[in-house]
Amino acid sequence: MHIVRTVQAMKHERAQWTGSVGLIPTMGYLHEGHLSLVRQARAEQEHIAVSIFVNPTQFGPHEDLSSYPRDVEHDLQLLETLGVDSVFLPTAAEMYPSGFSTFVNPEGTVAEEIEGAARTGHFRGVATIVLKLFHIIQPQQAYFGQKDAQQVAIIQRMIADLNVPVELRVQPTIREQDGLAMSSRNSYLDPIARKQATIVYRALQAAQAVFNPQSPPSAQAAIQAARQVIASEPAAQLDYIEIRNPDNFQPLEILRAPALLLIAVRLGNTRLIDNFVLHPD
Ligand code: PAJ
Repeated sequence: MHIVRTVQAMKHERAQWTGSVGLIPTMGYLHEGHLSLVRQARAEQEHIAVSIFVNPTQFGPHEDLSSYPRDVEHDLQLLETLGVDSVFLPTAAEMYPSGFSTFVNPEGTVAEEIEGAARTGHFRGVATIVLKLFHIIQPQQAYFGQKDAQQVAIIQRMIADLNVPVELRVQPTIREQDGLAMSSRNSYLDPIARKQATIVYRALQAAQAVFNPQSPPSAQAAIQAARQVIASEPAAQLDYIEIRNPDNFQPLEILRAPALLLIAVRLGNTRLIDNFVLHPD
């Protein structure tokens, strides 16, 4: 496995590859959610590259850039066992050299509402770094998690709008046994908050239980069911519960497939996001 730290060396490495190329972009501190993307890519591609880069431009000024968990040595050990060809591990100065001044700025409902409203500038940073990674590594396919559903919708939109020759392979959310979606940020949770965090999954399940394709309920009824569950945990501060069309993020009045339920909750200083694609059974 090659560890590649500069754009030039990564482009050089990429140029040697003649078969299909898959990219898995990450910010490191890898868990089973990330590893499931790597395994899927390994099964489907001749060459796979994983990027590990805590991208400063997608963090707001008061967010957790400096405390974001990092353990590159452990990440590399995990990736080695999965048969990754190259790990792209640039510095911030390598990706954003002095004078850098061009950004991809997603607009509209999908970029400006829900996470886009809660985290101003976040998707601008995400779209910019992902497009850079696509240009440097030139994968035919890139692997993303459904865990970050709005991120997927933003990148799909960017691919279509800017004619980017990359196909997304979106993989299901990997969860802990008690339902908590795996996330590098779960490491912020102390044992008490870790238990309280299961409220998010239980709220998603409560909304799913309202789904009835024979007699579609209002989206509000499902939101209300989820809201009640969140309210039963006093430590959980609700940021939002929304039901949207998963592609364009337009709000839905009536709960009919395809419908995406999105939740963000704060437990102390930790912000948890999760979602379900609501299904009719
Ligand atoms: P990061 O949070 O490290 O996530 C990297 C990829 O792993 C994303 O596609 C994310 O959706 C996926 N992922 C995270 N948790 C998952 C889980 N429990 N199950 C399945 N997939 C999961 O998302 C980012 O980094 C960054 O925004 C990035 C795209 C790398 C741009 O900087």
